[in-house]
Amino acid sequence: MKKNKAHSALLNRYQKLINISCDLASELDLNILLSKIVRAACEVSDAEEASILMYDPNKKTLYFQAATNLDSQLKRGLVVPLDGSIAGWIVNHQKPIIVDNPQKDKRHFDYIGKITSIECKSLLGIPLMSKGNVIGVLEVINKRGGGFNKEDQDVLLALGAQATVAIENSRLFLQSDLIGEFVHQIRTPLSALNAAAHLLKSNRVHEDQKKKMIDILEAEIEALAEMSSSFLDLARLESGRKQYNVKEFDIRDLLIVCHEIIINEAHKLNLLFILDLPDTLPLIRGDRKQLKQAFINLLNNAVKYNKIGGEIILKAIAEKDRIIITISDTGLGIPEDERSKIFEKFYRVKSHRDHVPGTGLGLSVVKQIIHGHGGEIDFTSEVDVGTTFTITLPNEI
Ligand SMILES: Nc1ncnc2c1ncn2[C@@H]1O[C@H](COP(=O)(O)OP(=O)(O)OP(=O)(O)O)[C@@H](O)[C@H]1O
Ligand SMILES: [Mg+2]
Repeated sequence: MKKNKAHSALLNRYQKLINISCDLASELDLNILLSKIVRAACEVSDAEEASILMYDPNKKTLYFQAATNLDSQLKRGLVVPLDGSIAGWIVNHQKPIIVDNPQKDKRHFDYIGKITSIECKSLLGIPLMSKGNVIGVLEVINKRGGGFNKEDQDVLLALGAQATVAIENSRLFLQSDLIGEFVHQIRTPLSALNAAAHLLKSNRVHEDQKKKMIDILEAEIEALAEMSSSFLDLARLESGRKQYNVKEFDIRDLLIVCHEIIINEAHKLNLLFILDLPDTLPLIRGDRKQLKQAFINLLNNAVKYNKIGGEIILKAIAEKDRIIITISDTGLGIPEDERSKIFEKFYRVKSHRDHVPGTGLGLSVVKQIIHGHGGEIDFTSEVDVGTTFTITLPNEI
């Protein structure tokens, strides 16, 4: 009788697993997929919490990508040491592991416990394997009513296999989608370059026109190079392959550096660039280099889409647990019917396309970085009056 009961409980678990697998297979958004996987992992193994860490074989780093117990955006990208964590052990040994009292295990990486105040009493972790390589680790903690057993491990391994296929699928989909868009975008400048090169070769161009054409060629090539590197950044950010190098740093100091970088550009257009910062700002945790890129992209826009003799204000204030940064300009503004599109990849406001050079990728990169830090970005704008972008960042990520 007892055996029968156990048998039907097991059947029940696998039935659940089949339902979950169907759901996973149809999900192509990587972030939604990963949060579905962690929830499914809790369900099939009767665990309180679960998390997924992704492994980057090129950089040999392991980093958090999704978890049930953390705000999904918040800890994304947090790097976990390969030596000195149970997840690292799983990557190195390519084996599942059950640990009954992880707090006592010297491999345990305690950072998450400390910042989430979740006590880790039992742990089961498995490698996510694709074609013989580890692509990540799935961990569940705190089994309800006891420790994890071999049966939990088997069910989780079965889920892991399904999850890996779904992750690879969604990555491929994302890549092919991005590649398609990229190829589409570079076709026009490439054919312009081709035409210019033909003309130059044909000797039908006057000497004085030649120099002008070569200048145009150089500018087009530079624009293509810029587009490629923004595109690569975006592809990494979107596919969750970009890791955040999270450290405590002085955001006030970073904003001063950004002001110094942009002020020369601003002066060329006779723009007044005002930096309005309080005497102190709390230190924040985040990836300084990436946040710098986000602010520089926004400030570049404030310069590019400004009017000669206009103004830019970079301002920051601290609230209880967040910092609010605003970047305002007195420029061209964004027409109302195009406002919902400016964060889309390659989108450029129609009336700006012919006058101001750009790839339409800058704001997509900004959005990914700010969201990756658990922050928000919004803007207000009025045509011919100006635009203000507002970024809200939590102190801790
Ligand atoms: N401060 C601003 N004022 C007015 N329009 C803006 C502003 N910032 C962005 N835009 C509009 O939004 C579009 C998208 O901006 P985004 O930064 O993504 O691309 P870009 O500036 O065209 O190219 P790049 O990739 O070189 O940044 C711009 O083309 C522009 O039309
Ligand atoms: Mg831009």
